[in-house]
Amino acid sequence: MHREPCKRILVVDDEKYICRIIVESLSQQSYDIVSLTDPREALQYVANNPVDLVLTDLVMGEYSGVEVLETTLENHSDAVVILMTAHPTVQTAISVLKRGAYDFLVKPFKLELLKATVTRGLAHQKVLRDNLSLKGQVEFLKVANAFFATGMDIDGYLEMVLRSCNTELAAVGSAVIELDPHSNEVSRWVCECGDDSASDKLIDDRLLFQFEGARSATPVIASETVTIDGSQMYELLISKPILIRKSLNGVINVLVRSRTDQIPHGRLDVLSILAGSAASAMANHELHRAQKKSYMQAIRALANAIEARDTYTAGHTDRVTRLAELIARHLGWNENQIQNLQVGSMLHDIGKIGVPDSILNKVSRLTDEERANMMVHPEVGLRIIRDIDLFKPSIPYILAHHERYDGNGYPRGLKGEQIPIEGRLLAVADTFDAIMSDRPYRDGAGLEFATRELIQNKGTQFDPGIVDAFLQVLLSGQVDFMQLYGRDEDSAIVESALAKENAAVPA
Ligand SMILES: [Fe+2]
Ligand SMILES: [Fe+2]
Repeated sequence: MHREPCKRILVVDDEKYICRIIVESLSQQSYDIVSLTDPREALQYVANNPVDLVLTDLVMGEYSGVEVLETTLENHSDAVVILMTAHPTVQTAISVLKRGAYDFLVKPFKLELLKATVTRGLAHQKVLRDNLSLKGQVEFLKVANAFFATGMDIDGYLEMVLRSCNTELAAVGSAVIELDPHSNEVSRWVCECGDDSASDKLIDDRLLFQFEGARSATPVIASETVTIDGSQMYELLISKPILIRKSLNGVINVLVRSRTDQIPHGRLDVLSILAGSAASAMANHELHRAQKKSYMQAIRALANAIEARDTYTAGHTDRVTRLAELIARHLGWNENQIQNLQVGSMLHDIGKIGVPDSILNKVSRLTDEERANMMVHPEVGLRIIRDIDLFKPSIPYILAHHERYDGNGYPRGLKGEQIPIEGRLLAVADTFDAIMSDRPYRDGAGLEFATRELIQNKGTQFDPGIVDAFLQVLLSGQVDFMQLYGRDEDSAIVESALAKENAAVPA
């Protein structure tokens, strides 16, 4: 939290001696006091300088203290304005209080009363400012709650933090630039700003690298004057470093345009809270990413251990996972669903651990008994993983990837939409890979044959919608056949197979 600067008080009275008396009587306190006898100067002063409290005479020749009151509040919404007059009427008192004045002093007043009113006014202001800071925190907590409720990704979370920054700091825009501490390069930036020229300023890498080696999260504020719609304003670029375990992980930048060169008190505190929250989210995200990586490595090792028993199916799991992910992305699945799909596909044949080597590696045709033995692998897989919470989302992949759309599959003989979508999707990827791959008793078939099989078995073995999605994936050229099967394939084959299919369908 930053230390508050001393309060600035402006005294406006066309009687020089009154200004002098007020300044003298308040000078024992550590205030920064400015006194002006010209009301026009006073109006200019409040429009261009920060003020906390204004003491103004009500009648100053052709000028009225009400103008000073209004201009002050226009430019400093939380400033305290106290009016002074020698000719009070109840109406004027009510009128100025209604316009936002804090209090009314009747001349001549005792200096003790003046001091007490100023002290009380500033205390009132502190409560207002603390409230502003609290309001910012409450608003942000609402945002954070919404994030946890919707399980939004890190970009979504940072966008919400930035929207709060924009609201709480009355900013033109804000941005986060994230640093990868290992490579020392920018790994991500997120910007919430509708003004292009402001956006460019907010995502400038130099704002991040100025904090290299920084040990504290003290913000840096760069100020310059700009002309907006003919009037001169200050453009303040606040950069607050984001430190995680004392090392620089990013910066949060906020651009504010204001008539004064200071940020109202309390707002930098709100920025600290928001930056702290962005830092926690970034640290959690990184931790989650690292955990997920080692978790996926463990699953891959498990899947590979099963494949190692049968050289002819080497790579099947990885290829099926890749193909299934392409289909799911084409269907618009969200990241959470994709992650479950990756794990589920990786584990889909884990039940083969219970199938003897003699059956798994058999080159000749399986006997009925051997086939029955092989067909229990989905249920064996289910028994292996069902008590592990982390693997629960994998159950439909493991259990339903051999179900058929027409109800003739196994283990349960489910039909159509009874089969979980995960199983219907994986069945297409699994079978496609089995057709394309080499087997002990045959070489892998080409794309033409595999495509024809998919089309011919739409509605019998496969969900037609999933086959159509997969054909679109194949058409899009996203499948790297050289990488998956060590040979090139021409996706034009899919196009002509589709054309034939369409021609065969009566209009
Ligand atoms: Fe299987
Ligand atoms: Fe499989």
